[in-house]
Amino acid sequence: MLGVPLQIGPVHLESNLLLAPIAGWCDLAWRVTVRSLGGVGLACTDLLSPQGLLRGSAASLDIARTNDFDRPIGMQLYGSDPSVMADGAKWAADHGATVVDINMGCPVDKVTKKDGGSKLMCHIPGAVAIAEAVRTALPASVPLTAKMRLGWDEQAYEAGCACELAVRLAQVGVAMVTVHGRTTEQRFKGDCRHEGIRRVVEAVGEATGSPASGGVPVVGNGDVRSAEDCIAMMRATGCAGVMIGRGAFARPWVFREAWGLQRSIAEGAPLPGDLEPSEAEKIGIARAYFERMREYRDDRYALHKFRQKISWLGKSINGGHCRALKEGVRNAPNPEEIHAALDAWLAGAPEPAPTG
Ligand SMILES: Cc1cc2nc3c(=O)[nH]c(=O)nc-3n(C[C@H](O)[C@H](O)[C@H](O)COP(=O)(O)O)c2cc1C
Repeated sequence: MLGVPLQIGPVHLESNLLLAPIAGWCDLAWRVTVRSLGGVGLACTDLLSPQGLLRGSAASLDIARTNDFDRPIGMQLYGSDPSVMADGAKWAADHGATVVDINMGCPVDKVTKKDGGSKLMCHIPGAVAIAEAVRTALPASVPLTAKMRLGWDEQAYEAGCACELAVRLAQVGVAMVTVHGRTTEQRFKGDCRHEGIRRVVEAVGEATGSPASGGVPVVGNGDVRSAEDCIAMMRATGCAGVMIGRGAFARPWVFREAWGLQRSIAEGAPLPGDLEPSEAEKIGIARAYFERMREYRDDRYALHKFRQKISWLGKSINGGHCRALKEGVRNAPNPEEIHAALDAWLAGAPEPAPTG
């Protein structure tokens, strides 16, 4: 499946790479910034409360915010009540969602204590009932997808919980399944388990056929930080696509690198050259992201988020050696000073890059 764009029900993507939802990170400004660098087939909102959307809560509407540069877009819902989830899905379809996703993987107490997120994996009939209700509520043009983990704990993993759930979901019309290769108990510890993702790929392939012949695609997720990691994930698991979250924090151009490498392997063409932006381009990317936050939200939000995120963005600037830049951004009291800090970094002699 290297280099083959994903098909999700009636929706054809430009690649098989997905930007992961990361609550607090993957806002509209970030999605548009990452998309502008190429290689992203689909991006997704962070998890959304259907009740919040239906009530018109400002926080939910901010998370659901999208625009014409943000296409195709998945809107992700969490919850445990089939009819509320169905109403939330209708809201999403009416407000621009290309795809609606059900969160079946969130390990956070606030979500699982209300039986949502990865708690859905503990009661497969309930999770399937939600998917059926949502599928029925959506127009045929808007496919339903689900994102899950390997199960709640080791026992569930060994019992094949994710395989069973993914197959049952596919049977009620879920058009794509994403699997993060950890259990809920693992949270983000330990390594992502390719073996677990492979089992789900095989189970869904057996039940629905290969994606090439119209079967339901399974997307692998977890710890992909480079084009090489992406190829390793696809080879080890047989997954039809790869979702990347944290790996894009420092290297938002990882999608174009991963897609470029896949295409050249698939075509037997020479490997792509270095697709990493120049240092000046990296500053330009950071600046554009900051400006998009101002435009889509406001200065206060942009300043707060940019000060937080500069540590991650800085990991790939001058080999991570950019303390002066990070300090300049963190101490900037207003947008003008943010730009001044970026300008000063560009103009000044950078700290020496690491050797070796
Ligand atoms: C801070 C944080 C917030 C997250 N928020 C969401 C979310 O809203 N919805 C979701 O499905 N997954 C969420 N995830 C999980 C990621 O989408 C992804 O499955 C996980 O980070 C593993 O992929 P990665 O190693 O590429 O980041 C979150 C992860 C982190 C670290």
